[in-house]
Amino acid sequence: MSANDRREFLIKLGTGAGVCALAAQGVASLRSLVPNVSYDAPTTVKLGPVADFSDGLKFLADERLFIFRDGNTFHAVSAVCTHLGCTVRAEALSRPETATVGGAPLRLSHQFSCPCHGSHYSGDGTNLSGPAPKPLAWFRLSVATDDGQLVVDLADEVERDFRLTV
Ligand code: FES
Repeated sequence: MSANDRREFLIKLGTGAGVCALAAQGVASLRSLVPNVSYDAPTTVKLGPVADFSDGLKFLADERLFIFRDGNTFHAVSAVCTHLGCTVRAEALSRPETATVGGAPLRLSHQFSCPCHGSHYSGDGTNLSGPAPKPLAWFRLSVATDDGQLVVDLADEVERDFRLTV
């Protein structure tokens, strides 16, 4: 191998090593943008033993959720206003009524109002007045198989015909 060939070989070797080092650095930089751990709140939350929920409404501040119980039937309505996300308040109806919601009867004992900009919702979460653009969300409920607690999945919005019967 002549001196020129050796020089050319060493230049190519050096260039290749430089390109490899840059590529490795680029991959490492991109990888650092992706966290190793997710700190997102879990969407499935245990709410407590079914027996802890008496007939009527229970407000869960941490989950911003209303749980309704009528005998053995449960449903969950979000307390997050669909306008800009304030927490709506439940107001007891002077005369509870039974309406057909999602094709099935539902006992309505409350209505909802938003303290921020005055949106009003009926007892099934339907937006009636104010700037709220859509109804309050309903979420899937289930009973945990391991300990019998009521469970909500805050990522699983359901239709208004949803009822959990225990
Ligand atoms: S946030 Fe509820 S009406 Fe605006």
